[in-house]
Amino acid sequence: MIGIFDSGVGGMTVARAIEQLCPGFPLVYLGDLARTPYGSKSPAMITEYSHRNTDFLLRQGAKLIVIACNSAASAASVFLRNHYSQAIVDVIFPAVAKAASVSATGRIGVIGTRATINSGLYEQRLQDARPGCKVYSQACPLLVPLVEEGWLEQRETKMIVKRYLRPLRDKQIDTLILGCTHYPLLKKTIGPRIGRKVQIIDSSVEVALHLKTMLDNDARLRSELYAPGEPSRFFVSDIPSPVHALAENIFGRTVLLEKTDV
Ligand code: DGL
Repeated sequence: MIGIFDSGVGGMTVARAIEQLCPGFPLVYLGDLARTPYGSKSPAMITEYSHRNTDFLLRQGAKLIVIACNSAASAASVFLRNHYSQAIVDVIFPAVAKAASVSATGRIGVIGTRATINSGLYEQRLQDARPGCKVYSQACPLLVPLVEEGWLEQRETKMIVKRYLRPLRDKQIDTLILGCTHYPLLKKTIGPRIGRKVQIIDSSVEVALHLKTMLDNDARLRSELYAPGEPSRFFVSDIPSPVHALAENIFGRTVLLEKTDV
């Protein structure tokens, strides 16, 4: 199984993209809703949670781990790669590779949680992928609660998005990375406010494409993970009331959420 974890339901945007691009590869998902949000926590705490989440997914039979949370990837990807022998894929690298290749001017914006932006990991990796590029980062801490409230296109949400994006518009970026797994749900609100000419990179789509390439190129990994007919499972460490509606919004169908302790 492909193990995927996130602090909550945002990572389901990644699970959905993987499901669509890699049919026949069952998923085991963990949304750590008991401890969400990660984006406002310290790197040490996020690493501790990510460690527990990975242990849980491996116990469920995962053979590869996708860190479907930018905050967790920023704080814990190095630790997890050093600690586990299994392949670890994170949401940041594929989005960086895409942005670095499509940006014409090399002026790239990144939006994410405080943990993600403060880590500086996007900037570092963008500089590695495209030396000399100009990276403009903006933490948007109010966006995750708005998405969780289901306020995707409300007037207030549009105003807040506009305010967060203004400094990036002023820098005339031509590419914007959505560095948080909740933000794809705000694409319709973000698009017109950053400007129609700016290319938006959705890290959930990019990580799914990256995983598909890995599976296409690695016969051993493919045979280890391919199990058509085996159902995907979705675990959460808490079930707050809006979670069913959010999951349904992301998958376009009812998803059975299993409560677990991590
Ligand atoms: N999933 C997190 C991320 O991608 C956002 C939610 C949180 O702060 O936990 O950064």
